[in-house]
Amino acid sequence: MGDIYFERKVAVVTGAGGKLCSVIAKHLAERGCYVVLIGRTFEKLKKTADSIHAVNGTCMIKTADVCDEKSLQKVADEVKEEWGSCRFLINGAGGNNNKAITTNYYFDPLELSDEKPEEMRGFFDLDMDIFESVVRTNTIGTVVPMRVFGKQMAAENAGAVINFASMNSYRPLTRVPAYAIAKAGIVNLTEFLAVYFANAGIRVNAVAPGFFINDRSIKILGSPEIGLTERGKSVIRQTPSGRFGNPEDLLGTIDWLLDDRLSAYVTGQTVAVDGGFQAHAGV
Ligand SMILES: NC(=O)c1ccc[n+]([C@@H]2O[C@H](COP(=O)([O-])OP(=O)(O)OC[C@H]3O[C@@H](n4cnc5c(N)ncnc54)[C@H](OP(=O)(O)O)[C@@H]3O)[C@@H](O)[C@H]2O)c1
Repeated sequence: MGDIYFERKVAVVTGAGGKLCSVIAKHLAERGCYVVLIGRTFEKLKKTADSIHAVNGTCMIKTADVCDEKSLQKVADEVKEEWGSCRFLINGAGGNNNKAITTNYYFDPLELSDEKPEEMRGFFDLDMDIFESVVRTNTIGTVVPMRVFGKQMAAENAGAVINFASMNSYRPLTRVPAYAIAKAGIVNLTEFLAVYFANAGIRVNAVAPGFFINDRSIKILGSPEIGLTERGKSVIRQTPSGRFGNPEDLLGTIDWLLDDRLSAYVTGQTVAVDGGFQAHAGV
């Protein structure tokens, strides 16, 4: 639904071809924002753009790697030229990689032996280049957009930023150490940026989604439709709401955190949208 507050304000959404941010981008377009869709794969962004055009929304596609400051600066300059300064920044680009994930939950003495099964990937087998790239995408990939678009917001003395944390931000889940340290870093970075930019009129908050099925996590968790894996069952068991999240579950929090009429005094916060997972001690 259109809203005068959002109308014609520029919203930059990174990871806009993904499961969560495609829905968020469309929602912001429906509210009246001019939405900049950023990601590395044109086809994914095109799908989001098509969904936005179908509701008469306004968007532009910009393919870029969020860790590449030079190309992102070029995007920022083009956006400013065409639509003016960025007002809302949604730092949704992120993700994990199987080679940075252990196959076992806990140390297994087999990791040290010659009989280690081929499919076993313990802590000592993690690919460190991939490990670093996961940390980089999920941390530097938020810092860089804040540098290039934050400059525009600071110059206007107005802006709201939403970063993407995770359940891993609070306590690391088993098996995903690279992703976990990165998402813990996002909470810290959100606090740093909130403090640093408060006097520039920019509020910086984060959402910490619980478990939402995307193209990668479906392989790890399964889904109610195709059947849950053991890990998927364990997640649902510890989610008081008894289900995975739908991207639409995030929209109220996004609206609230972007809108100065509702959250002018809220900055530096990470808000869990998790069906209660974070509150559940597991017993
Ligand atoms: N789904 C969940 O349960 C969940 C839970 C907690 C937190 N999160 C976080 O929420 C955010 C969105 O998640 P999602 O489920 O929507 O993931 P997704 O479907 O995998 O979407 C992530 C998007 O980010 C883009 N991306 C990745 N690396 C990039 C880079 N270096 N530069 C530019 N774009 C990049 C990807 O597109 P390209 O590969 O085409 O660039 C992809 O479309 C992520 O930060 C994720 O970590 C998700």
